[in-house]
Amino acid sequence: MDIRKRMDELINLINKYNDAYYQKNESLISDLAFDQLLSELQKLEQENPLFVLNDSPTQRVGGTITKQFKSVTHRFPMLSLGNTYNETDLKEFDSRVRKALGDEKYEYICELKFDGVALSFWYENGKLIKGITRGDGIRGDDITNNVKTIKSIPLSIKDGILPVEFELRGEGFMPNHIFEQINHERSLSGEPLLANPRNSASGTFKMQDSAVVAKRNLDCYIYAYLGYDNLFQTHEESLIKLFDLGFPISQTWEKCSDIESVLGYIEKWSLKRNDLPLNTDGIVIKINDYGQQERLGFTAKSPRWAISFKYPSEIAKTEILSISYQVGRTGNITPVANLNPVYLAGTMIKRASIHNANEMTRLDLHEGDMVFIEKGGEIIPKITGVDMSNRNPRKSIFVFPTNCPDCNSELVRVEGEANHYCMNDLFCPTQIKGKIEHFIQRKALNIENLGVETIDLLFEKSIIKDVADLYKLTTLDFIGLDGFQSKSIQNILSSIEKSKSVPFRKVLFGLGIRHVGATIAEKLVIEFKSIHNLRAASYDELIAVPEIGDRIALSIISFFSKTDHIDLINRLGQSKVQLSEENSELEIESTRLEGKSFVISGVFQNFDRDGLRDKIILNGGKVVSSISSKLDYLIAGDNMGPSKLEKANQLSIKIITEEEFLNLL
Ligand code: IVH
Repeated sequence: MDIRKRMDELINLINKYNDAYYQKNESLISDLAFDQLLSELQKLEQENPLFVLNDSPTQRVGGTITKQFKSVTHRFPMLSLGNTYNETDLKEFDSRVRKALGDEKYEYICELKFDGVALSFWYENGKLIKGITRGDGIRGDDITNNVKTIKSIPLSIKDGILPVEFELRGEGFMPNHIFEQINHERSLSGEPLLANPRNSASGTFKMQDSAVVAKRNLDCYIYAYLGYDNLFQTHEESLIKLFDLGFPISQTWEKCSDIESVLGYIEKWSLKRNDLPLNTDGIVIKINDYGQQERLGFTAKSPRWAISFKYPSEIAKTEILSISYQVGRTGNITPVANLNPVYLAGTMIKRASIHNANEMTRLDLHEGDMVFIEKGGEIIPKITGVDMSNRNPRKSIFVFPTNCPDCNSELVRVEGEANHYCMNDLFCPTQIKGKIEHFIQRKALNIENLGVETIDLLFEKSIIKDVADLYKLTTLDFIGLDGFQSKSIQNILSSIEKSKSVPFRKVLFGLGIRHVGATIAEKLVIEFKSIHNLRAASYDELIAVPEIGDRIALSIISFFSKTDHIDLINRLGQSKVQLSEENSELEIESTRLEGKSFVISGVFQNFDRDGLRDKIILNGGKVVSSISSKLDYLIAGDNMGPSKLEKANQLSIKIITEEEFLNLL
């Protein structure tokens, strides 16, 4: 058969099934049969590269690697929206509109405000030619290859009315069920969990390998048409036509003839929005008529013809049943509240983090208290207060333990830190298991095929007692253990063997020395080259290294002062694990924060403090410990010290949230 004809036939079939699935929710073919068509087309394209079309459906499975995304100037700036939080502000917006339009009749289109990543799509001659991120609103990154993996976005359209060139704007997102599925898989393999669907989407859109992006099943809703013609008179017309043409337009929008019906829309969606496949944090209200939009115009930052209304962050009230104290791998103790399960923002909440003893004191938690819990975009909700009207005066206050809940050794509170620590790092079982899990993770020794459960099992059976014992494992150690076939044992042993070639910087990070994150480990390796030199380094030599301060230096010295640690290092060395590295250089992520200094304060959702510090350094910024007038930013987490906040305010230092920091990147 004519190859080209068969390729066309395959493309038509695949597009037909795709459209039915994504536009009409109809499955006309089994997944298996669909994949077979797609692989047949892929094979033909590989064999006949000259016949490959750039809107071929195979583009959706990715395969291209982008080393560095090109920066593109937006044809029209990507602005943001003004926010309102209550009825009064919204009515004021409506009065402004009425006044500006001189009492002319007008209508609104209400849409949900999708919580994802703003994207711009350029079409030329009916084909998608570019997908761009918002960036700073003026210039964004060209992520076309990644955008093409969104199955609901047409790569080409056959239609007589759309102009040769037009642009669409929309919100790219990771559907909640995909986010939960990825996190489930990550928890099984011991990888750190993704913080929330929005960050996961924005991280995924910036991945270099589009084949990985394709596997993450990102999706998108289009919410604006920008043309150079006057094709549509109203926003409504554009939404209807684009939907007809197969573009993903969420069918949640409504036309409202006055502000009262806008309020009705807000009310209608306040709970129903939790049933949608993605998070929404409010609604967007837009003037329907394009002519009126033009007359209302823009301020420097946002249109005068649109505004958003943000739903209050959701709060639930429930009973606190008990507090558990979790032991981290460095011995840090985190109080976690066990709650009477309650439904909040689409999920059943059973636990909430209380961060540390200070926070427990601040909340003054008593047994049986009814507590308010709040959830932003994060996975773990937090307790924000206690309903005092419900307190039973006979119930006693929760007291932070004096001893480790696991090994019973006395807890210590390090001067100047909010955390309590179990100092028994050599014998506390939870700490040891945590250290082994830390050692095998991808960023460290990257020992695949060895999950948390296997480590727990090997530790409980006393087959391993620290990371050096991993290198002594043989097939015999697995005999009599449930669930291990010879193939899986071989896989584990060969991953362990492979880890012997992992560079020293990752091994040093894997050792889990308190306050030595991945970047600090890298800096230490660049400076000292080997574990032998690092061990011999004096306090003064350590603090002479950029970014190494008192806290890190003392932690390193304390680590090497323990004979068990020296013994561990010797045994790793005997097993040929890399303990030195010549020619080391720092792997920089970007220079976006070059010349900028940061103070970090409080507790964060996406990073621990070392991780946040690493992120700043890897992007060219500097972390300093105290606030001065030269400081550029204070990154404020939860529970930050009031004195820092006051000082920053006095000196008019820019105070940013964790989210704003991520936006800087
Ligand atoms: S219209 C001039 N409609 O909200 C801006 N934006 O602050 C016009 N967003 O990052 C934007 N859902 O990506 C519009 N239905 C919707 C939206 C929406 C989410 C995002 C948008 C932008 C932010 C604007």
